[in-house]
Amino acid sequence: MQGRHHAMRAILALALLCSAFSGEAQAEPSADTVARGKALAEAADCASCHTTDPSKPFAGGKRIDTPLGAIYSPNLTPDRETGLGAWSDDEFHRALRYGVGRDGSRYYPAFPYPNFTKMIRDDLLAIRAYLATLTPVHNSPPPPELRWPLNYRVVMRAWNFLFFQPGIFEPNQQKSTEWNRGGYLVTGAAHCGACHTPKNIFGADRRGRAFGGGLVQGWFAPRLDGAERSGLKSWSVGDIVEYLQSGRNGRSHAGGLMAEVVANSTSKMSDADVRAIAVYLKDLPAGKPDPVVTPPPQAEIAAGKAVYAHACVACHEADGSGTPRIYPPLPGNANLQSVDPSSTLRVILDGAQTITTPRAPNPGSMPAYAKQLSDQQIADVANYMRNSWGNAAPLVTPAQVKKARMQ
Ligand code: HEC
Ligand code: HEC
Ligand code: HEC
Repeated sequence: MQGRHHAMRAILALALLCSAFSGEAQAEPSADTVARGKALAEAADCASCHTTDPSKPFAGGKRIDTPLGAIYSPNLTPDRETGLGAWSDDEFHRALRYGVGRDGSRYYPAFPYPNFTKMIRDDLLAIRAYLATLTPVHNSPPPPELRWPLNYRVVMRAWNFLFFQPGIFEPNQQKSTEWNRGGYLVTGAAHCGACHTPKNIFGADRRGRAFGGGLVQGWFAPRLDGAERSGLKSWSVGDIVEYLQSGRNGRSHAGGLMAEVVANSTSKMSDADVRAIAVYLKDLPAGKPDPVVTPPPQAEIAAGKAVYAHACVACHEADGSGTPRIYPPLPGNANLQSVDPSSTLRVILDGAQTITTPRAPNPGSMPAYAKQLSDQQIADVANYMRNSWGNAAPLVTPAQVKKARMQ
């Protein structure tokens, strides 16, 4: 009798001990894991989409415009009712790896799970551990405002079937550890292709066109492949590293959406990770050749040159050389020679404030020309810059400028 009692007590104690241990493992992951999760959340730039008010990090509610309508990001803080507080690790993993919600419904790809699926479980759960340390915020974002037929979530089942390939990044044994780390980040957490890969009409990556340049929210994310003029062929690993860490280099400045990526993500990555990304990008194939361009008529060049001499020469210089890291040089500028001129037109229309980072703290700015210059004048000056000093790119029409103005 006595013996049985003891045995029962022992089993009970053991069970309690076990639950205490597993409870502890759930509630308090190591400081290392949390730090790794924070770094990964920065590499993945979760904050750009999930933080609306900087005083309430990750509380969601940010409006994200897609070609098919708007969608609002959910709350990732540990609030039990409106955030992730009541989620299990498995549910979190399933959302990022497979794009499947708690109730089994499918997410829209405005949430880059087609990239996050490349990440290993351990890394995803480290992010989860970091998010669990945030201050809970009670906030329910509005429902999506998507157009038919996407307003029916069930449509995403077909989308996933057609376009989504779940699975972690497959290391390439022929390549270096650095290359593989770069590939893991570029295709996975850092989701560079979410902007830099062209999309089909369903918003999925166009096959065979990885990093071939994509249009996002009125900006053109240039080619990152090895294309001669409009890709990264002329950039060294060092150039790419400097751009990602400081937001500028001797060839170009990061503006628009890329300035946000630099500020929130790449400038915070470790030196080793940024270098790995650059090594991976420099090894991408050349991709589709740049188009053969017939030089614009002499009259068009003369008209553009006149606008340039009047409005731009003070900073960018007559030969376009500018002052590297202050006024970006225009000859050989890949962004400027992109087939799609959207980013160039955005900068001319809206002007720009150079982003400042700890590595490049000096500010700079370019005035906006939307009011001063007509559609024709902006097309002329764009055509002049895109086809002078050895540059070559297809003609920009006043109609394209008009369209960019309305964005
Ligand atoms: C480009 C914008 C973007 C980025 C970057 C992004 N998300 Fe999201 N996320 C969204 C949107 C939009 C949704 C809602 C999708 C839907 O409703 O179909 C979402 C949904 C989620 C959900 C589901 C939440 C719920 O309540 O159902 C989780 C979890 C999540 N994101 C976590 C993350 C994490 C972690 C990161 C960084 C590793 C991240 N997201 C990066 C836009 C983004
Ligand atoms: C949210 C969309 C977005 C994401 C995500 C993004 N980029 Fe960009 N990127 C852009 C845009 C837009 C530009 C053009 C910026 C400009 O006009 O100043 C750009 C420019 C660049 C350039 C300069 C190219 C040139 O020819 O001047 C490089 C290099 C670059 N991005 C690398 C990356 C890498 C590496 C990643 C992933 C770590 C990444 N980008 C993620 C939107 C994005
Ligand atoms: C007061 C100085 C100033 C003047 C005048 C000026 N710019 Fe700029 N320009 C800049 C600065 C600074 C940047 C970098 C902005 C940034 O960091 O995003 C820039 C960037 C650019 C870029 C983007 C280059 C790249 O690498 O992405 C283009 C294109 C450009 N300017 C064209 C023009 C044209 C066309 C005019 C005249 C209509 C003009 N600029 C007038 C200062 C100037």
